[in-house]
Amino acid sequence: MIILGIESSCDETSAAVVRDGREILSNRIHSQQIHQKFGGVVPELASREHIRKIIPIIDAALEEAKLELNDVDIFAATFGPGLVGALLVGLSTAKSLAYSLGKTFCAVNHLEGHIAANFLAHHKLKDNFLTLLVSGGHTMLIDIPEFGKYNVLGNTLDDAAGEAFDKVAKVLGLGYPGGARIDKLSKEGKRDFIKFPRAISSGERLDFSYSGLKTAVAIYVKKLNRDELEAQKADIAASFQEAAVDVLVQKSIIALRKTGRKTMTISGGVAANSRLREKLAAACKKENVELLFPPPELCTDNAAMIAAAAFYTIQNGNASSFETNAIPYQKLT
Ligand code: KG4
Ligand code: ZN
Repeated sequence: MIILGIESSCDETSAAVVRDGREILSNRIHSQQIHQKFGGVVPELASREHIRKIIPIIDAALEEAKLELNDVDIFAATFGPGLVGALLVGLSTAKSLAYSLGKTFCAVNHLEGHIAANFLAHHKLKDNFLTLLVSGGHTMLIDIPEFGKYNVLGNTLDDAAGEAFDKVAKVLGLGYPGGARIDKLSKEGKRDFIKFPRAISSGERLDFSYSGLKTAVAIYVKKLNRDELEAQKADIAASFQEAAVDVLVQKSIIALRKTGRKTMTISGGVAANSRLREKLAAACKKENVELLFPPPELCTDNAAMIAAAAFYTIQNGNASSFETNAIPYQKLT
């Protein structure tokens, strides 16, 4: 089964061809640069850039896969969550192609896409695992008995982890998007330079709050003059990253003990973070749990993960109607 996946929920325009849900034949990603000078994604500019890039990206993905449009069995696209104008570009394109060629259309939840990225990287992974989904919009711990069945153990209360990375990067003058830049700079800094707050709840829920940590960094930086900031930049980045990662690791371990799962995955853009991978791998090893994560290019937004999720959605008998609309605040159901 050949699936053409399309992703356009935020600032990546991507098209991918995936065979039988596991084999990536191509995965073309265009990361929009236009937002850099604004320090964050400007929705209207994102939509316009998607319109300009979507057809060339699809052409390139098919060419790399050495296939033609008619070889595609299923056209899949993200329908939410995301920016509505941006989502509509990919969604309308996939629907139009499927309709005009008489093929099946599959609307994919972006969060399911992130979860499915691990199926592309680890072919034996199927069900019975816990995932930590950490992206620019979400911080979630989800128990997954099987693809399509989700028990959300912890959710985003305010800023998502990736959002905190981006905002701290902005305060430090590192530019946008900031997660990968903080990751890189932290390698030169002292992790215990400042003890920033860690929001660990004592209750049953494993929800995540990052606005306190973000504000603590902003207040600290505000008190520094330019030279002090320059001298401490790497230490602040490393100390912030350590606090952010500590919370993710601690809550993941609580969730593992609670569910008794023996396999854990991480997904979403922040899953590319080297310190998170390192610390969580060590903690999982202690718990005798196998930790799986995708390569960095499958952590951040891409269309191969959308095609992979579509494969399992179709296997579960859930092709989509051409009436499907974009849903900006779509939840994981
Ligand atoms: O999954 P994603 O590409 O888009 C959303 O669905 O939100 O995640 C993007 C987020 C951004 O906040 C970005 O700064 C963060 O992932 N990110 C990282 C790293 N690479 C990307 N955060 C920390 N360390 C990284 N290496
Ligand atoms: Zn994403």
